Amino acid sequence: MGAQEVREGFVRLYGAEPDGVWAAPGRVNLIGEHTDYNDGFVMPFALPHIAVAAVSRRTDGVLRLHSADLDSGVAELRLDDLTPESDKKWTAYPAGVVWALREAGHPVTGADVHLSSTVPSGAGLSSSAALEVVVALALNDLFELGLQGWQLARLCQRAENVYVGAPTGIMDQTASACCEAGHALFLDTRDLSQKQIPLDLAAEGLRLLVVDTQVTHAHSGGEYGKRRAGCEKGAALLGVDALRDIAYADLDAALARLDDEEVRRLVRHVVTEDQRVEQVVALLESGGDTRAVGPVLTAGHASLRDDFRVSCPELDLVVDTALAHGALGARMTGGGFGGSAIVLAEAADVDALTKAVEEAFAAAGLKAPRVFEAVPSAGARRVG
Ligand code: GLA
Repeated sequence: MGAQEVREGFVRLYGAEPDGVWAAPGRVNLIGEHTDYNDGFVMPFALPHIAVAAVSRRTDGVLRLHSADLDSGVAELRLDDLTPESDKKWTAYPAGVVWALREAGHPVTGADVHLSSTVPSGAGLSSSAALEVVVALALNDLFELGLQGWQLARLCQRAENVYVGAPTGIMDQTASACCEAGHALFLDTRDLSQKQIPLDLAAEGLRLLVVDTQVTHAHSGGEYGKRRAGCEKGAALLGVDALRDIAYADLDAALARLDDEEVRRLVRHVVTEDQRVEQVVALLESGGDTRAVGPVLTAGHASLRDDFRVSCPELDLVVDTALAHGALGARMTGGGFGGSAIVLAEAADVDALTKAVEEAFAAAGLKAPRVFEAVPSAGARRVG
């Protein structure tokens, strides 16, 4: 839904023009998975899929929320009543942002919100971060809070961690808030320092496909928390603040100090994955052939599948089929246990490759995957 339609929806719903309209995108992560809660490196880029919100300021301590995508009516909440982990619906994301802003001392006094999103939900493409960031940006403008993108991202992460109750890292919110069109975002999640890396795949005859398996395995939430706890255990055993502090050159020595095989695997994934992000950045910045990125993506998938163990049969099927049909590289993207994979391919191979993946899914008795091309798009912004 475009900005104009969301504006019109707001007028029909609340009987007045909104103060403005904002948009925030979903993301795919090119490389750097499960590194963001280890203070490591990530490299996402924004999708053209966006959450759009029309918003007006209120001064009476009331927050009204409505989604054009759901048939659930207007939720009316009192700001003073917002309580972490009390809401299990979609409204927890925008309400959590208001809660986090107020908790941090920002003078937010209420709002009317009407929104709609084209970011597929449950696909590992950060539909929840898009919802959080679009509301945060709108409130930042309307209440003249003067916060920068990375600061909004931190507050949105707090909303998700504490208010929603999901122990995610900082990648998704920062990607949605800070990405730029035509670029991937090289982000150091320790201090949120960032570098925009130009990524024009079409200029080299390449495409990046997103394959949404349309599968979400039910245990994904708990498994994410377990991996995170395992990484923290590894860091503690090795006497570092975070696994980011283990240099790639010191990996073997670090592994030799660990008895627990489970922890060893987690550590090996995180340390090698940080190295793969640095490798991809170096390849892209060297101005050489981007095709060289392909094998690094594929190595990342093997590590997520075998060491970190967050893949699933459907994601492996996408990766294996794509590679067997000429893909330059492929990997799962996002948290795993379902969701989406990315495939780097020659433009000329895209049709055959897509067909092969669709046929493999059909042969396995799976629902057809959703395949689309991902072009690095703009981050959060005001659109009306
Ligand atoms: C999810 C989380 C992110 C990150 C990825 C894995 O998308 O929201 O913070 O941890 O998983 O890289």
